[in-house]
Amino acid sequence: MHLLSVDQLDKNYIEKLFNIHKIPMDREFYDKPLKGKTIVTFFAEPSTRTRLSFESAMYAMGGNVISVADGDTSSLKKGESLKDTFRTLSQYADLIVFRHSNPDWPEIAQKYSRVPVINAGNGNREHPTQALLDLYTIYKELGSMEGHKILFTGDLENSRTIHSLLKLLPNNEIYLAPTYIVFGTGQTVHHLSLPNNYKSENYKTVLTHEIPNLLPEMDIVYMTRLQKERMTLYHPEVYNFCMTNDLAQTMKTKSAILHPLPRLTEIDENVDDNHRAAYHERQIKNGVMIRQMLLYNMIA
Ligand code: NCD
Repeated sequence: MHLLSVDQLDKNYIEKLFNIHKIPMDREFYDKPLKGKTIVTFFAEPSTRTRLSFESAMYAMGGNVISVADGDTSSLKKGESLKDTFRTLSQYADLIVFRHSNPDWPEIAQKYSRVPVINAGNGNREHPTQALLDLYTIYKELGSMEGHKILFTGDLENSRTIHSLLKLLPNNEIYLAPTYIVFGTGQTVHHLSLPNNYKSENYKTVLTHEIPNLLPEMDIVYMTRLQKERMTLYHPEVYNFCMTNDLAQTMKTKSAILHPLPRLTEIDENVDDNHRAAYHERQIKNGVMIRQMLLYNMIA
């Protein structure tokens, strides 16, 4: 009923989702299969792509959208509980798309929502629909979802997109190169590595300065920004890998650079026109497509 974690998704469901319906991306999708249905998009953390792609997907299929784009304008600000929030939202819509910094909200949703809920981000834990669109992008870029060398770099500790996506990539060779930060008197180094519950013995961890040597072998490089808003430390110095066009050129012709966005300094703008850069157009378009397929599957 809900989509709260990628743990709910098996291979059959994903393959079906990627192949079903071949829903046209066209905003004037003539069948309007979600006519008369309403979703609420409730985002208590910032978002550009996730919220707007859900809304765009819904409009494309003839449905209605009501939205809270900033939790501070909702009764959460007055101290209303998440329980009561879900009880209320259930009365307005056929489905709820929800994002909040409390990592435990999915358990509350499961108990108190009367309609299906899609997790659009629970703190630094999970982001299942981004993982689906990322997996779909890998599939479209390379022609399959298995047997690839995939490097993840950036803030692996806080990137919920990576936590979710890793669980959908069982038969691939995974390399991790976490950004590291130095803080305090300059003596304390902290690697932004995967939290323990997302770790696996099968992943190879490398240092960020080793990335340039690995690039020629990689099929996918997946990058994320530093999530300063989740750090309690003051002004850390950041040592992240920066992708430049010269480095991107050393990758295979058929390979891709992915980023869930927003991008900060980790990808130089001169990479944007490289054919390997999937993050702006292809990954974003796939996001609308995947959300169309999901909404269709869940409420049509
Ligand atoms: C990501 C998120 O919110 O987790 N963005 C997104 O949904 N496309 C990544 C991020 O905020 O860095």
